[in-house]
Amino acid sequence: MKTQILTAEQLDVAVELLKNGECVAFPTETVYGLGANALDEEAVKKIFLAKGRPADNPLIIHCASKAQVFNLVTEIHPEAEILMKHFWPGPLSLVLSKSDIVPKIVTGGLDTVAIRIPDHPLALTLIERSELPIAAPSANTSGKPSPTRASHVYADLASKIPAILDGGSTGWGVESTVLDCTVYPFRLLRPGGVTVEELREFTAVELDAGVYEDQQNNEKPRSPGMKYRHYSPNATVILVEGDNIPSRINQLVKEQDLTTTKVGVLATSETKQLYSGLTVLEMGSRTDLRQIAANLYHLLRQVDELELDLVYVEGLTNDQMGMAIMNRLRKAAGYKVVYS
Ligand code: TXA
Ligand code: MG
Repeated sequence: MKTQILTAEQLDVAVELLKNGECVAFPTETVYGLGANALDEEAVKKIFLAKGRPADNPLIIHCASKAQVFNLVTEIHPEAEILMKHFWPGPLSLVLSKSDIVPKIVTGGLDTVAIRIPDHPLALTLIERSELPIAAPSANTSGKPSPTRASHVYADLASKIPAILDGGSTGWGVESTVLDCTVYPFRLLRPGGVTVEELREFTAVELDAGVYEDQQNNEKPRSPGMKYRHYSPNATVILVEGDNIPSRINQLVKEQDLTTTKVGVLATSETKQLYSGLTVLEMGSRTDLRQIAANLYHLLRQVDELELDLVYVEGLTNDQMGMAIMNRLRKAAGYKVVYS
């Protein structure tokens, strides 16, 4: 299959593909999604096939209006409605009880469904013109970093999907926050663009264990996606946390044979000059976590392009956007964390 790259002016080609039961990659404000008609089982199957995604990992449904959301769910906690009012359109996916029209293939067999209204003009126009709820996971091959540019989608899915709608770089760079609103207090399953601090201004939120801990051996995690290894470059990734990160990394580098091992560092702007003889990739300033989030997946993909064997990553705060970034970095590192 030849994969077409569509410009914004060619959006109607993507609309027709969706209406005809095909899947299409499109930009959202977080990362690129791989969308298909959420109500068409055959169309949704194509998403799982193209990504190589395990069937028990449920998809987020993207809507353009609350009216569209109400068709897909049976009940909504009043505080979830407040969150919708405040954070939609935006990077917040709410897990709600699903209605009968949502096929189980979308929800990985669960009785709940994750839904959001994305804050991106192309995504919203695509959903409106197709008049369909669009199921869309991130448009990467399962296990790879999520795509924040059309070229990332192309690198993973060329010849596996008919089209990619190109909307340039996505703004947030990490995926939406996933919040389970079928339990109270609401449970944060995946930290993302909307921070827990922001959510707690409106409702009670507990953190699921998967926010900090490996769920690989958890038979029944609340968020099935959390048990899979994610965001991983081919290189070995080691996350270094604590008060003396650069000196600890330099010490660890000394233990490596640099003639046989290509070593890199993902460093913040403040400390990037403290490493010599290594490939240094700059994440951005510690004072601008949004910038670091926006760069993160592109940098993890660059690690592969540069064919690095081993990468040390400077740890960041777990507060605000740092919670989402550190969650992704721990996973990218396969939970290999060194404390300095
Ligand atoms: O920003 C985003 O959320 C992007 C863009 C494209 O919207 N999408 C995205 O989808 O990241 P995906 O499929 O890569 O991640 C969806 C996450 C997974 O961790 C999945 O397990 C969880 O949401 N999820 C989906 N439905 C769920 C449900 N019913 N209950 C619990 N977790 C659910
Ligand atoms: Mg994903």
